Amino acid sequence: MSEYMKIASVSDLPPGQGKVVAVQGREIALFNLNGSFCAIDNTCTHAGGPLGEGMLEGEEVECPWHGARFNVKTGAVCNPPADEGVTAYKVRVNGSDIEIEL
Ligand code: FES
Repeated sequence: MSEYMKIASVSDLPPGQGKVVAVQGREIALFNLNGSFCAIDNTCTHAGGPLGEGMLEGEEVECPWHGARFNVKTGAVCNPPADEGVTAYKVRVNGSDIEIEL
């Protein structure tokens, strides 16, 4: 059964920024998209770059290693060299907590 788990506080992540959060053995890239939060797997499908450290532009994050782009809402790949998307997680805000469904 899936459950929501706290991964950060709303105050941790200003609009336009991302961060990497470790939870239950996974690394999640969490982004603040103009006040709404999105979470995808942190590991780029090209060669394992940390997507949570990439630049956020609109709804897309650019992998800091070789520039592949992923949609932070859906995890879909938008630009090579990656050719496979990443998992996207459901996110909700519960009071001052950001929670994702695992
Ligand atoms: S590791 Fe992400 S584009 Fe190469």
